Amino acid sequence: MSSYPSRFISINDFTANEAKRIIEKVIRVKNSDSKSIRIPKDAAPIVVALVILEPSTRTRMNFEIAAHRIGANPVLFTADGQTSLVKGETEHETLENILAMRPDLVVVRHSGDPRVTQKIIESKIPVINAGDGKNEHPTQALLDAVTIFERRGQIAGERVLFVGDVEHSRVARSGRLLFEKLGAQVAVCAPEYLMPKSTDWSHVQQFSKLSEGLTWATVCMGLRVQKERHSIKSDSKQLLADYVAQFRIDLKNMTHLKPNALIMHPGPFVPDEDLSEEVLSDPRCVIHDQVTNGVFTRMVLLSEMLERGVQR
Ligand code: NCD
Repeated sequence: MSSYPSRFISINDFTANEAKRIIEKVIRVKNSDSKSIRIPKDAAPIVVALVILEPSTRTRMNFEIAAHRIGANPVLFTADGQTSLVKGETEHETLENILAMRPDLVVVRHSGDPRVTQKIIESKIPVINAGDGKNEHPTQALLDAVTIFERRGQIAGERVLFVGDVEHSRVARSGRLLFEKLGAQVAVCAPEYLMPKSTDWSHVQQFSKLSEGLTWATVCMGLRVQKERHSIKSDSKQLLADYVAQFRIDLKNMTHLKPNALIMHPGPFVPDEDLSEEVLSDPRCVIHDQVTNGVFTRMVLLSEMLERGVQR
C-alpha cells in the first residue's frame, strides 16, 4: 500500500500488480465483502467533493453512490448554469476555491484545460481524475478491466478492439494503457479520420473493416462519435452516414464476434450512430455490468485513497 498514489490522474499512477490487486479486490467487494471498506462510523464526517465540469451521468452518479455506500458524504458541483462560472469565473479558480474548502478528497471531470490540470497536480488534497478532455479516464479503464476479468477470468491474452472515435476518446487511451499493462493485446477499428494520430498508438493493429476487427477480437469496446471534440465539417452529414453504414455495431455485424466474446461500451451510446439498441439483449453484452462495476470500483478507490489519511 506504500506506493498508493495520493492522486489518481493516469493509469500510469498504478503498477500492473497494484492494478491487479485492485481489480481482484473490487470483485471480492462486489461478491461478498462490501462492509469491509466502509469508513468507521465514529470517524468524523468524510466529505468527497465531486467537481463535474463536463456532462456526465454514469461517472458522476457512480461516484456519488460509491461515496454514500462507503459511508462518506458526496458534495456535488456541476456546471449547470447556477454557479459562479456563469458570472465569468474560470474553471481553475472554481476548483481552487473548492480545494480551499478542504474536502477530504476531490473527484474532477474537466475539459482538459491545462490550468485546471495544474491545480490538480498542485493539490495537497487527494484527487481522482474522472475524465480530462481527450486525455485520460483512468477509473473507467479500471471498471472495464474488472468487467472483463469478471466474465473471462483473465485480462492477459485478451484481444481488445476499440471501435469508432478512438482519436477523441479518453476511455480508449486509459483503456489501452491498462489493458497492455495487464498483458492484453489492443487493436482499433475506425475510419481513417477517427484513427488515433499520436505515436503512442503506432504499435497498435488497425482494422478498417468492422467484420475483420470483430473476427479478431475477444472483447469489442464500442465508442461514441464525440462530436463535441470535432471541428464540424461541411460534409459531416455524409461522413456520419458513411460511418453508421460501416462502423455502427448491430446484431448483423455481431455475427462476426466469437460466441464467448464480450461487447462493451463506456456509454453513453447513440443508437442511430455507434451501437444499435438491440445489441443490449445479446448475452455477450456487458454494458450494464460495466455501470454496476463502476460503483464497486469507485468504492474501493475512494476508500483506499481516504484511508491514507485526511488532511484538514
Ligand atoms: C465517456 C466519457 O465521458 O469519457 N463516458 C463515461 O465516462 N462513461 C465516453 C463518452 O462520453 O463518449
